[in-house]
Amino acid sequence: MKTTEVIKDMRLKDKVAFCSGRDSWNTKPFPDSDIPSVMMTDGPTGLRKQIGTNDALGFAQSETATCFPAESLIACSFDKTLISEMGAAIAEEAGTAGVSMVLAPGVNIKRNPLCGRNFEYFSEDPYLAGKMGASFITAVQKKGIGASLKHFACNSQEYYRLVSDSIIDERTLRELYLTNFEYAVKEGRPASVMCAYNKINGTYCSENKYLLTDILRDDWGYDGFVVTDWGALNDRSKAFEAGCDLAMPGGSAWGEKDVLGNIDKGRLDEEYVNQSAERILSFVKNGRAALESAAFSADLEMHHELARRIAEGSAVLLKNDENILPCKETDIAVIGAMAQKPRFQGSGSSRVNPSKVDSVLSFLPEAPYAPGYDEDGSTTDEMLRLASDTARSAKIAVIVAGLPDIYEAEGLDRSDMKMPEGHNRLITEVAKANPNTVVALCCGCAVETPWADEVKAILYMGLSGQAGAGALVKILTGEINPSGRLAETWPMVYEDCASASFYSAGMRDAEYREGLYAGYRYYDKAGKEVRFPFGAGLSYTSFSYENLSVGKNRVSITVKNTGAGFGGETILMFVEAPQDSIHRPVRELKGFEKVFLEAGESKEVFFELDERSFAVWNGGWKVCPGEYEIQIGPCSAKLKQSGEKPDPGDEGWYLSLDGIAPREDWIRLLGYTPEQTPIRPFTVSSAVIDVAENTLLVRIILWFFEKAAAKIYGRGSVNYQIVLRGAEEAPLRRIQDIAKSKGQLAQALADFGNKKFFQGLGHLFR
Ligand code: BGC
Repeated sequence: MKTTEVIKDMRLKDKVAFCSGRDSWNTKPFPDSDIPSVMMTDGPTGLRKQIGTNDALGFAQSETATCFPAESLIACSFDKTLISEMGAAIAEEAGTAGVSMVLAPGVNIKRNPLCGRNFEYFSEDPYLAGKMGASFITAVQKKGIGASLKHFACNSQEYYRLVSDSIIDERTLRELYLTNFEYAVKEGRPASVMCAYNKINGTYCSENKYLLTDILRDDWGYDGFVVTDWGALNDRSKAFEAGCDLAMPGGSAWGEKDVLGNIDKGRLDEEYVNQSAERILSFVKNGRAALESAAFSADLEMHHELARRIAEGSAVLLKNDENILPCKETDIAVIGAMAQKPRFQGSGSSRVNPSKVDSVLSFLPEAPYAPGYDEDGSTTDEMLRLASDTARSAKIAVIVAGLPDIYEAEGLDRSDMKMPEGHNRLITEVAKANPNTVVALCCGCAVETPWADEVKAILYMGLSGQAGAGALVKILTGEINPSGRLAETWPMVYEDCASASFYSAGMRDAEYREGLYAGYRYYDKAGKEVRFPFGAGLSYTSFSYENLSVGKNRVSITVKNTGAGFGGETILMFVEAPQDSIHRPVRELKGFEKVFLEAGESKEVFFELDERSFAVWNGGWKVCPGEYEIQIGPCSAKLKQSGEKPDPGDEGWYLSLDGIAPREDWIRLLGYTPEQTPIRPFTVSSAVIDVAENTLLVRIILWFFEKAAAKIYGRGSVNYQIVLRGAEEAPLRRIQDIAKSKGQLAQALADFGNKKFFQGLGHLFR
């Protein structure tokens, strides 16, 4: 039977119920209508199929799977083939486990270095994020498994992520925070798009018609289904109207009664429910059919090797004075506890239970070793003395350092950009003891490196997955030639970043005051010195660029390996726009390719140019007339474009870019004065912690929650902190969801907070 007919034959109540899941990971089956259930699980770095207990944050044990490098590292490969191999492998593991959709990739823009989930995202650049996302999706879906593109959109801070409002002007939204999704949607055609928790300009993404229908479906032609982030549904009726199809996790029937009532009273058109149910059903049918027809086989040993190859192709050599690297294995002393107990993935819903984990020491068993710091990142004089002695005992001291687990977790933004004091002290002390000091950094985001001038080499390993240690050793010893480039800028200090003074801390609603100027767009424009720029990365060989040829739609350049050994080169194409008609970044990434060349070998590389290589958003995509410069490596060429001169409007604040824009200027650009969402009166969307302040019952609920979290995870552990912060910042409706209460518990709690005691009792027992 056709999907439309199946849905037509279902009772309204069942259709509505079908649009929310059965439990944390499965859709609802309706055997009478011949509708099976399919399973979705995280995620971006490998499969997280939970065993037994279902929780949405990744703490219950999950089946073993391959933990691949984090998105933040694989973006540094700039290699679409490599990420496709990863997508295919994750899909194989999903199919083998009976999972129909992986909740990945996440393509959100790294607006600020402190976002707790930066390790899960590709880049500060929307072109790179969108293209890598599209390659991942295509590879997953070629295997018959669906991909869920997330978190749509403007979800670039974790602080109060379930209730915060991202306040942003239209041009910034289109050029930066939607372009990434646009590429991934149009080229990847993901089975689903996951809408983010937050609001955009006052409307929750899950009920944002402008986002989910006008832009996603009407502008971009998307024909898959929209699933909520886990717990992002606010108002079910509004969500249907906006084009939000499936509510996850399931189990609580949140808002379903209201939907039936609204349809009954003619306030909601049943057709919205039909459309959502049809979209979900066609995914369920395809997903089931793919699992039944395809023979999946996941060879975890091979995937381990692949995970290592991905880390090898992504690691970034940031500094290599006097060509200290590569070096002989026998010359190395290893320092840093992370060499023994690797830090290879972030925390939260993307956390994988790895099939096995390599360590640096297991590859260098003979090397002198000292831990240098404790698991929490602290050190002692004695540890430093031991580390310095160890460093002196060898020709080269390799320090493995970075960020401990607690620093990078879903739900928790970092409070600064610093590495732990113990790591910084260790590096300084060891560098004093041995002038040939190399630092291998294990962290999924940019960190301050005040010691950068004290050491000879810096190798960024990111969060390199379960096999990353092998990649690190092979790069140190020259078996692998590094070819990664930074996918985000590393400022000198956090304060240099455009949004530093108003990002996250203290402000629940996110004011995107820096506008277009996130990442390199800001540093370039403001002429600010950075520690490592976007695109930084060295090789053990050298490359030359020649014969740049620029046509109307096509660019070509010849790249030659002029050094002594085989190597990969990442080729970035930037377009520099004329700066005279509308305020805009100095240059923007509009193409990238990766080539691998033997010594002496050369290759011609091609790039496409289209309208979007030049356009700005000005009530539509418009190309400003003028002379554009195409830059590839050291080569550049001019290209004339005709077009319509856009109306720059009121762009006053952009002119003060060398400093940070005053809020009044941003308000002028925005066109209205936004207010932080008022805390009172309380509603079902109010944060639990706010209501707890004057509601005993909510305080008691939080008290029990804290006790349970402490018992299960241990007070102070990363999981404990994620769970607790998540509970405090969550809206009241999440309590009702988690309690699977079918009544009006959330509304009752809000009433109690508002001191409307009898009204609350009424809602509680309704
Ligand atoms: C995360 C999503 C994830 C989902 C399911 C949410 O908390 O934001 O990225 O896919 O949980 O685990």
